[in-house]
Amino acid sequence: MEIVPGPSSPLLASRIADKLGVRLSKTNYKVFPDGELYVRVECEDDASVIVQSINSNDDLIFLLLMLDALEGNETSVVIPYMGYSRQDRVFHEGEALSVRAVARLIEGYAERVISVNIHSNEAKKHFKKLEEVDAMPVIGKSFADDDILMIAPDKGAYDEVKRAAKVAGCDFDYLIKTRLNSENVVMETKSFNISGKKVVIIDDIISTGGTIIEATNMLVKSGAKEVDAVCIHPVLTNFALNKLYAEGVYKVIGTDTIEKPVSEITVAEIIADLF
Ligand code: R5P
Repeated sequence: MEIVPGPSSPLLASRIADKLGVRLSKTNYKVFPDGELYVRVECEDDASVIVQSINSNDDLIFLLLMLDALEGNETSVVIPYMGYSRQDRVFHEGEALSVRAVARLIEGYAERVISVNIHSNEAKKHFKKLEEVDAMPVIGKSFADDDILMIAPDKGAYDEVKRAAKVAGCDFDYLIKTRLNSENVVMETKSFNISGKKVVIIDDIISTGGTIIEATNMLVKSGAKEVDAVCIHPVLTNFALNKLYAEGVYKVIGTDTIEKPVSEITVAEIIADLF
C-alpha cells in the first residue's frame, strides 16, 4: 500500500504514512496559466490511499484527477474534510444537492471512502461506501486533566462536546440562545456558572468565526477567565482567525483535517487505524 498525498493534505498524508510504515507516493501538481490543473502520481503499489481534503473547488478537481491518475489501482480515498456537505438537501426547488454530486463522483472511482466528522447525518446518507471516524475523543485527549469547562455553542453540538469532555474528564455544557426582540439576543449556559473559569468552546467547524465570536462575547460578559476555541475542521475563511483574536478568543486550535497554522491536533492515528 502507498499513501498518495493530495495538495491540500500533505502533512496529514505523511503522518498517516509514518504511522503505517508505508511509502508516500511521489506526486506533481501544477496550475496552468489558464487555471486548469495537472496531476501526476508515481505509485509503485497496486493499492493506494489518497489523502485529500475538499476545502475548495480546486481541491475537488485535484481529487478527481488523482483518482483518474490511479485508474487500475485499488484506491481508497481519505477526505479528512468533506466540503460541500452543508448543502445536504434541496432547500429550494431547482437546487443542486451538492454533497450527492460529490459522493457520486468519488464513489464512481474509489473502493473505500473515509472521512472525519461529516457535518450532518443527512449528508452521510448520500454515500454508499463511507466510513466515518470521530475526532472528538482525540480533541478530548489533548485536554486530559485540564481544569476547564467545555462548551458547545448550541444544543446541536452538545453530543459531540460530550464525547470530547468524557475523554478529557472535564465538565461540559451548552449555550442557549434566546431572542428578546429583533435587536437583542441573550446567550446563557444551560447549567454551569462560568465566572472565573477557563472555558473551551468546541465546534465541528469554524468557518467565518461568527458562531464562536457570539459565544465568546457572552462568556466574557459572564466572567469567564479565558475563552479558547477548538474545532475539528478549521475552515477559517475571510480573516476569521484575526477576527477571533480581536474579539477576545485567547487560543484557537484545530485538527489537521484542514492544514492551517492552528492545526495542532492530528487525526493521523484514528485514520491509520482503519488500514
Ligand atoms: C453549524 O452548524 C456548525 O456546527 C458551525 O457552528 C458553523 O459551521 C460555524 O460557522 P461560522 O464559523 O461561520 O459561524
